[in-house]
Amino acid sequence: MSNYKIAAIPGDGIGVEVIAAGVEVLKALAAKRGTFGLDFEHFDWGSERYLREGQYIPEGGLEALKSFDAIFFGAVGSLEVADHVSLWGLRLPICQGFDQYANVRPARVLPGVTSPLAKGKAIDWVIVRENSEGEYSGSGGRVHQGLPIEVATEVSTFTRVGVERIHRFAFELARSRPAKHLTLVTKSNAQRHGMVLWDEVFAEVAQDYPDVRTTRELVDAVTTTMVLKPEQLDVVVATNLHADILSDLAAALSGSLGIAPTANLNPSRDFPSMFEPIHGSAFDITGKGVANPIATFWTAVMMLEHLGETAAAAELMSAIEAVTESGLHTPDLGGKATTREVTDAVLALIRR
Ligand code: NAI
Ligand code: MG
Repeated sequence: MSNYKIAAIPGDGIGVEVIAAGVEVLKALAAKRGTFGLDFEHFDWGSERYLREGQYIPEGGLEALKSFDAIFFGAVGSLEVADHVSLWGLRLPICQGFDQYANVRPARVLPGVTSPLAKGKAIDWVIVRENSEGEYSGSGGRVHQGLPIEVATEVSTFTRVGVERIHRFAFELARSRPAKHLTLVTKSNAQRHGMVLWDEVFAEVAQDYPDVRTTRELVDAVTTTMVLKPEQLDVVVATNLHADILSDLAAALSGSLGIAPTANLNPSRDFPSMFEPIHGSAFDITGKGVANPIATFWTAVMMLEHLGETAAAAELMSAIEAVTESGLHTPDLGGKATTREVTDAVLALIRR
C-alpha cells in the first residue's frame, strides 16, 4: 500500500480554513478506500510567522520539503505585509526552487453552478501557465529610490529551454483530451522579442504533434473569445502573467474564484509539486466561515491524480459535483451555506 507524505501549508486568511477542510476530506477518503495512506505534516509558514520571526520559510525549510510527495497549499497574503513580500517570501520560492514550471488551471462549470455567460456550459478549458520565468522571473531592479530620477525595470525573461518545455507539456496535455486542440496565446505583435520566441518555438514543437490542432490568439483577443465563443477553446498555453490574468477570468466565467483549482507541477518529478486553490487569502471573508472549500477539494483531486490515485480522485470529483448539483452553495455562488456545511456534505458522500 502506498503511503504518501503530504506537506500542508495553509498560509494565511481563508487558506487556513479551506486547507483544514481539504485535509479532513482527504483523510476521510483515504480511510474509506483503505488502498493508500496520507501522512500530513503541518507547516506554520505564513504571515504571522513572518511578522514574528522575519521569515516565511525557516532556514533549511525548502530542503525539508523536498522529501514530501506533494505540497497542499492554501494562500499567502496579509494586510500587515506588502503583497510582493509575502508572495516572494513563500509561494514563489517554492514554485521556483522546485522548478514547478507547469501551472495547470482547469475551468469548467460544475453541475448546479451558474456561469455569468449564457454559453457557460461550453466552458471546458485547461489553461497552462508558464510558471518559472517570463514576466515573473524576478529580474529587474530599482535605482535612485525615492528621488525624482528613480528608475524601475521589470524584465521579462524567456529562455528557449523554458519556452520549449512548457509548449511540450501543453501539447502532451492537449493530446490527452478529446478535442486535441491547443491555443497559443502571446502578444507577439507588440512584444517582438520574447513573444516571437514563444511563437517560433511553438511552431517547432507542433511538428512533433501532428494530431493536435493548433490556433494562435493575441492575449487581448482571447479574452473576447473566452466570453463570446467559449466553445472555441480547449487547452490554452500562455506566459506567466498572461495566464495568471486569463485564469482568473476563466474562474469567474465558470462561476466563482471559490471553485477554481490549480497545480504547480514539476513534470520531471525531481521535486514535489504543489497544489493550491487559485484564490488568495480573501481578507473580506476571513474568519466568517463562508469560504468556498470547493476550489481546495478540486485541488485535492488534482493532487490525487498526480500521485497516481486516479480512482480516489474520481470518487472525490463525483462527490464535489453531487454537492454543487444539490444547490448547497456558499455565498460566492449565491447560496447561504457555510464552509462547514459544504465540507460535511462532501464527507457524508465519501463515508456513505
Ligand atoms: P482573493 O482571491 O483573496 O479574493 C478575491 C475575491 O474573491 C474576494 O472578494 C474574496 O472574498 C473572493 N474569494 C476568493 N476565494 C474565495 C472562496 N474560496 N470562497 C468565497 N469567496 C472567495 O484575491 P485578492 O483579494 O486580490 O487578494 C487577497 C490577498 O491574497 C492578497 O494579499 C494577495 O496577494 C493574496 N493572494 C495570494 C494568492 C496565493 O497565495 N496563491 C493568490 C491571489 C491572491
Ligand atoms: Mg492570480
